Amino acid sequence: TNSTKPVVLLAEKLAPSAVSVFSDEVEVRHVDGTDRPALLDAVKTADALLVRSATKVDAEVLNATNTLKVVARAGVGLDNVDVPAATERGVLVVNAPTSNIVSAAEHAVALLLAVARRVPAADQSLQAGEWKRSAYTGVELNGKTIGVVGFGKIGQLVSQRLAAFDTKLIAYDPYTSAARAAQLGVELVSLDELLQRADAISIHLPKTPETKGLIDAAALAKTKKGVIIVNAARGGLVDEQALATAIREGHVGGAGIDVFEKEPATESPLFGLPNVVVTPHLGASTVEAQDRAGTDVARSTLLALRGDFVPDA
Ligand code: MLT
Repeated sequence: TNSTKPVVLLAEKLAPSAVSVFSDEVEVRHVDGTDRPALLDAVKTADALLVRSATKVDAEVLNATNTLKVVARAGVGLDNVDVPAATERGVLVVNAPTSNIVSAAEHAVALLLAVARRVPAADQSLQAGEWKRSAYTGVELNGKTIGVVGFGKIGQLVSQRLAAFDTKLIAYDPYTSAARAAQLGVELVSLDELLQRADAISIHLPKTPETKGLIDAAALAKTKKGVIIVNAARGGLVDEQALATAIREGHVGGAGIDVFEKEPATESPLFGLPNVVVTPHLGASTVEAQDRAGTDVARSTLLALRGDFVPDA
């Protein structure tokens, strides 16, 4: 009965608002994108495939179908989509590049504050029945130098928010002009200078061959003793083993880490270390960001299926 409607295959849980964008113009089907055989079977008759980050859309998936026209990523990163392979087969790839930038920025700030004030450790201790106040002495952000590595959309939002804490903001970004940074009250510096001056460093870069392992043992060795490292961008930008070593040696004072080299991460050299706060890739996990990501890609998918022009978000 629905055979004439395009089939939109949802391989991961999307916000209900996204699903409602589709109305009855398309037939919506569901599959668990991490169940490989089920995905390979379901994609055979799909016109569009919607994913978040858990579904690997590689050449094998793309070869399993000749009906597919669109792959939509409800989020920013296309790490899990083989874009060249899709393009080669004439499959359009869409994402929602601005949907979760505010959420990502707020999460980075949350991690920084959680580490600076030891919120998770103090919470655990108190809930275990201890009343230990001096053990959880923190540090203020006020007056500190914060280094933002990557001054794109998210790095700029983080800087604007941290400016309210009366911090001194410095940023490293080879693609931003000093004038643009200065407009936001941020001093653009080299990576080496940032590493040497910052009391806390927050990373906001995409993961590329150039950025992978950027914050490694050699970079950490250049930082100030007691520095706080925050990574809510991509796993592998900071070398987890090197960071764990620097924390154990007492050089790095603490870390807030949302992303891991291998995800899902059920173990990491960082787990169990003092003053490390970890979250399971929650930067975009807010009601608002999921809503936006879902509706943005649902709209783009509809446009693409209708053969209309899909504008950049
Ligand atoms: C993104 O790329 O959009 C974020 O990392 C969040 C996510 O993976 O959903």
